[in-house]
Amino acid sequence: MADEIVNVNEFQALARQALPKMYYDFYAGGAEDEHTLKKNVQEFQRIILLPRVLVDVSNIALSTNILGYTISAPIMIAPTALHKLAHPEGELATARAAAACNTIMILSFSASCNVEEVAASCDAVRFFQLYVYKRRDIAVNLVQRAEKSGYKAIVLTADTPRLGRREADIKNKLIVPQLKNLEGLMSTEVVSDKGSNLEAYANETMDPSLCWRDIAWLKSTTNLPILIKGILTQEDAIKAMEVGAAGIIVSNHGARQLDYTPATISVLEEVVQAVGRRVPVLLDGGVRRGTDVFKALALGAQAVLVGRPVIYGLAAKGEAGVRKVMQMLKDELELTMALAGCPSVEDISRSHVRTDRDRL
Ligand code: FNR
Repeated sequence: MADEIVNVNEFQALARQALPKMYYDFYAGGAEDEHTLKKNVQEFQRIILLPRVLVDVSNIALSTNILGYTISAPIMIAPTALHKLAHPEGELATARAAAACNTIMILSFSASCNVEEVAASCDAVRFFQLYVYKRRDIAVNLVQRAEKSGYKAIVLTADTPRLGRREADIKNKLIVPQLKNLEGLMSTEVVSDKGSNLEAYANETMDPSLCWRDIAWLKSTTNLPILIKGILTQEDAIKAMEVGAAGIIVSNHGARQLDYTPATISVLEEVVQAVGRRVPVLLDGGVRRGTDVFKALALGAQAVLVGRPVIYGLAAKGEAGVRKVMQMLKDELELTMALAGCPSVEDISRSHVRTDRDRL
């Protein structure tokens, strides 16, 4: 029962019980050997905290500001596909939980509820995540609908020119029923008896020619700020600055795209150094503890996004489950800040952590 759950990781087992194997594996899995999937979590565990004592921590301020929006804690909801496979209320439940927690939800382009429905269901600050398909008119249409229905930013996911090879989905012959209903994206129904219909669908629709110069085109379609998600190197962080990204999300797509990419936490500091405070840097991948959030902030992230734990909460307990996941992370972060001597998120500094780099 959710009441007995004491940390976010425990929701995973509940989700496993609640979901058909095919869907659980879709959510939980990563690409190929799942090397990066493990690393995303393990590399957080290698970072050591260096607390300061005798600091007045009777009041802890968790709130932070992202692109002008104040949220209750630096923990946001990552864009993840197809929430209706986890729970009948799908993204509507997730969005209500985001509103209740006063955080930002990034709605996936591959959501199972449409942008207007989600907008109408809650007053959370929402960003819209975009994939660009060969049919560019689909992107333009969705960006404009998102803008019209009050989304505050576009998050362009840049790491998916093709879908990563997720072997669990191939083995399970994953068939996603909602694919037919996705936002006018299906001109033809793609079902492959060789494996996942998602893979076939994505590879048919995704535009692998999308490149840096297309950001100017994307900017011309909207007044919303554009964040770029999927940056792992200094080189790309600099390019993102050059094309006028309003923010960067250090992400390896929850280890679902290219295996053997670095754990996101291990490249965060380099990216932050390249960006140099010009725009916010966010991070996702493997955040499972309040201490993880603290570590990411110490290494320069302005906030983190959480992917799978939100889905696991949703699968186990619907909206209440998502709220509980977000609340647990927030409570853990608050305790971490108190015990580390950081009364506010601004007090969390590089000197509060020791990484492998410091040991060299
Ligand atoms: C994702 N992610 C993702 N990203 C994106 O930009 N658009 C999407 O539609 C999806 N869909 C998606 C589905 C599932 C099931 C997962 C697990 C992930 C990636 C997501 O935004 C984020 O980068 C990772 O989930 C972060 O890692 P953790 O928190 O899951 O470890």
